[in-house]
Amino acid sequence: MKIAVFVSGTGTNLLNIIKKTKDGFLKSEVRLVISDRGCEAIEISRSGGIQTAIIDPKNYPDESGYGKVLMQNLEKCEPDLVVLAGFLKRIPNSVVKNFANRIINVHPALLPSFGGKGMYGMKVHRAVLDYGCKVSGATVHVVDTEYDHGPVLLQRCVPVKDDDTPESLASRIHQVEYEVLPEAIKLFEESRVEIEGRKAFIKW
Ligand code: GAR
Repeated sequence: MKIAVFVSGTGTNLLNIIKKTKDGFLKSEVRLVISDRGCEAIEISRSGGIQTAIIDPKNYPDESGYGKVLMQNLEKCEPDLVVLAGFLKRIPNSVVKNFANRIINVHPALLPSFGGKGMYGMKVHRAVLDYGCKVSGATVHVVDTEYDHGPVLLQRCVPVKDDDTPESLASRIHQVEYEVLPEAIKLFEESRVEIEGRKAFIKW
């Protein structure tokens, strides 16, 4: 499969996906990395010879203009799957429609809790700790037109410890993201994902 990855930051999930394509766990290839800003993930991709594009929604008058430019870039590499790995902007409706059920996102909490607009990075983990949750985790879901909303594909829990800080919880959750995100990509490689309404089923 050809994969396009969207990123906004450090890119450790991107690095992990690339690693999994090299060690044979994944049969896919990362063909394109798109970001809304210059960031470490873009540097990693460039140094690995992967095609990159920085497309900042602020440079377009409306969502449809932004969507058009994203589509132009995506069409060049014709990805089978689009992976949001720490991408903090909403994907325009036109792109969601064109790649219906072929865009997945990883979120650092157990959705539908602690998700939605503005819930990203340390804010998520701080909210989980403030609420006093005993577990948190990672969710991989299929992307629809709302933030952190589409059908849940995979989830994995981690314990929340009494002495956790947002950073220590984030680090524990990152470790399970490095498992579930490649596993989700593999399910698409094996054509094992079926979406019915708001439910994602994994075929055995
Ligand atoms: C990941 O923890 C991912 O779940 C989160 O951003 C981090 C990116 O880390 N995504 C969101 O918060 C989206 N709502 P990385 O850049 O090191 O892969």
